[in-house]
Amino acid sequence: MMMNRLNPCISIPFGLSTDEFQDLIKKTKDWTLMHGGGIRSKNNFSSDSLTVVPFTLLPSVFPKNEFLKAVKIQPLLNELMHKVSRDHEFLKSCLKKTIEVDEFTRKLFTLYETVREEGITQRMSLGLLRSDIMHQMDENGNNIKQVELNTIACGFGWLGILSGNIHRFVLQQLGFLDKLKMLPENNALQGLCLAIIKAWELFNDKNSIVLIVVEDQSVNICDQRFHEFELALQKPELCVIRKTLTQVANEAKLTHSKDLVIQSKRVAVVYYRSGYSPEHYHGEIEWLARLLIERSTAIKCPDIQYHLAGTKKVQQELAKTGVLERFINDPNEVVEIRHIFTGLFSLDLDQNGDNAVKMALDNPENFVLKPQREGGGNNLYNDEIKEKLMSCINSKERSAWILMEKICPPVQQNYLIRHEVESKTNLTPCDVVSELGIFGIILCDGDNILLNEQVGHMMRTKSKSCNEGGVNAGYGVLDSPFLYDDSSDL
Ligand SMILES: Nc1ncnc2c1ncn2[C@@H]1O[C@H](COP(=O)(O)OP(=O)(O)OP(=O)(O)O)[C@@H](O)[C@H]1O
Ligand SMILES: [Mg+2]
Repeated sequence: MMMNRLNPCISIPFGLSTDEFQDLIKKTKDWTLMHGGGIRSKNNFSSDSLTVVPFTLLPSVFPKNEFLKAVKIQPLLNELMHKVSRDHEFLKSCLKKTIEVDEFTRKLFTLYETVREEGITQRMSLGLLRSDIMHQMDENGNNIKQVELNTIACGFGWLGILSGNIHRFVLQQLGFLDKLKMLPENNALQGLCLAIIKAWELFNDKNSIVLIVVEDQSVNICDQRFHEFELALQKPELCVIRKTLTQVANEAKLTHSKDLVIQSKRVAVVYYRSGYSPEHYHGEIEWLARLLIERSTAIKCPDIQYHLAGTKKVQQELAKTGVLERFINDPNEVVEIRHIFTGLFSLDLDQNGDNAVKMALDNPENFVLKPQREGGGNNLYNDEIKEKLMSCINSKERSAWILMEKICPPVQQNYLIRHEVESKTNLTPCDVVSELGIFGIILCDGDNILLNEQVGHMMRTKSKSCNEGGVNAGYGVLDSPFLYDDSSDL
């Protein structure tokens, strides 16, 4: 496999003495913490304290044209996801085999069928999406390839903005004022919150509220709270309540007209920052809470259809020849979308599945094996792929997974800065790779699209030797793109 290398945005090391360098890191950590760059300690959780988010000291370079391509394609991806989410036959046939063997997806699907049979009570849908992509250099030059598209609890709308600001501060401290213009503007948080507010306005009850469904303990608290603070800023009269699924189960009710009521307030919009992982459902009551919300007139972000449309199985089915055409009329748009897909293969018990298994066993280093899970840490690599596939080679358990070609982003050097108690910051630069997330918003009334935009980005970076990239999961660190003109040398 080709291994490409890019030069960092400024030469490393940058000629500071050890003392000066340590001072810069200390100062930048303080700047970060004092500007909303905090995270709750996972190992030592306290709701009274924050530790500094992990971040790269420098922005990572990313080709400008590919960044612009990713931004431009986002509304198309938004529309695609919307249409997929409304296509019952498609969702059903995509997930048919998966739900036979994957309990979590089956529970989601059963919930979907229940509300579908009862009749959907809210025509309005709200998607706050994040398309995750990596830059890849091959014989055709620079390309972007999609890792996945998230439709539920897409985080880092705030921390993505903050990362750019950390890097503005570092470049300013180092005297590279001329480089600041290479950091793109980012208004992700404002855009995401605007979409929630638009949905709330369409609900048309000024006494109604926004309900944020949260985990029992929110590690990524700054990112979540900044959404609340931004909502307060944009719409001071709007009341926002945070509840866990357990609390919703115990406190919320449906009225005769199926309005969701909690703390005597009617809920206009439900925004999930939880509910995407089996661990968020301790037992039956959390599933009942989810069902209660789905049954209600509240506008759900996402509704169960959007949640299902964001599964990795659907992503894999969309990459099959001829499938995009079912949703997108313009052939040029189909080509544009197809171009960002990488190899995705079903592992169903049939000839295609057998071929995929063989490919993976022959060259596991070229693939990622993925279950239907979100939140990081669930994918398998290298020998784990072999072990897993060998363990279910002739069983339909295979259908719970998909096989994906591994994307190989170019390597560059950067410094990974972390909270010192959690893990020692390395003062020597290391080889890293980056992943860019583009945020999209889509608000629809039935098939009628009321709002469909790209609103901003986030970037996370990890050491080259690490497979997973999640920041909350402890693998990746926050980063921001430094856009270079790919037609000229850096
Ligand atoms: N095809 C791929 N090629 C290279 N790396 C990949 C690929 N798929 C996933 N990864 C790496 O694994 C990480 C997690 O993968 P993915 O996003 O599919 O899982 P997830 O559990 O849904 O994560 P998230 O919490 O980001 O939604 C990615 O951030 C990326 O670093
Ligand atoms: Mg995901």
